[in-house]
Amino acid sequence: MAANLFLLAVLTITTTFSLAIASDPSPLQDFCVGVKMSPVFVNGLVCEDPKLAKPEDFFFAGLDKPGNTSNPLGSMVTPVFAGQLPGLNTLGISLARIDFEPYGLNPPHTHPRATEILTVLEGSLYVGFVTSNPGNRLFAKVLRKGDVFVFPQGLVHFQLNSGEGDAVAIAALSSQNPGVITVANAVFGAKPPILDDVLAKAFKLDKKTVDWLQAQFWMDNN
Ligand SMILES: *[C@@H]1O[C@H](CO)[C@@H](O)[C@H](O)[C@H]1NC(C)=O
Repeated sequence: MAANLFLLAVLTITTTFSLAIASDPSPLQDFCVGVKMSPVFVNGLVCEDPKLAKPEDFFFAGLDKPGNTSNPLGSMVTPVFAGQLPGLNTLGISLARIDFEPYGLNPPHTHPRATEILTVLEGSLYVGFVTSNPGNRLFAKVLRKGDVFVFPQGLVHFQLNSGEGDAVAIAALSSQNPGVITVANAVFGAKPPILDDVLAKAFKLDKKTVDWLQAQFWMDNN
């Protein structure tokens, strides 16, 4: 009987107070325009005095301009995160423009703090994400202008321009500062380098190949 009451109490508590945190923590004021130069470390950026806030703090211009895709991957991410738009601080949302030259690739990467929803403005993209273990299922699709695809938080995903012309996409992310871990860069471009025994065994490669991979230039494209 006592055990049943306990279970009932637990059930009541969990259903009453169940909370889904699916983005950055909620703000505790209307806004908190971020100040970059602060000796204080907080979760996000320190707030500017709200009395000093101005429309420009909530504004960013230039997303009409294509990113420079003249790089080995043939893609460029133009972020509009809290670092570029200080009014985004504490609001749990951000935006990016992604440009692709023909066959340009936004290589496999994850955003540790954000789900991403993407729409294609021009061209077509082969996009996909892979689920976590067990399974590592691939969910992939070719997107055309106007199509929308969502990449769940933390999962490895990619976008490849599969068309003949340039491609442009806009992505919204559920964090003011989504972060990015590009898989190949993190693994083969870590500084200082990961011991090649680790990578040879993990990737079923001989150490020569690992050393060659580690000697490549790993560009951060976002
Ligand atoms: C684009 O990037 C390349 C390589 O960094 C550079 O040489 C070129 O001048 C850039 N183009 C523009 C328009 O900024």
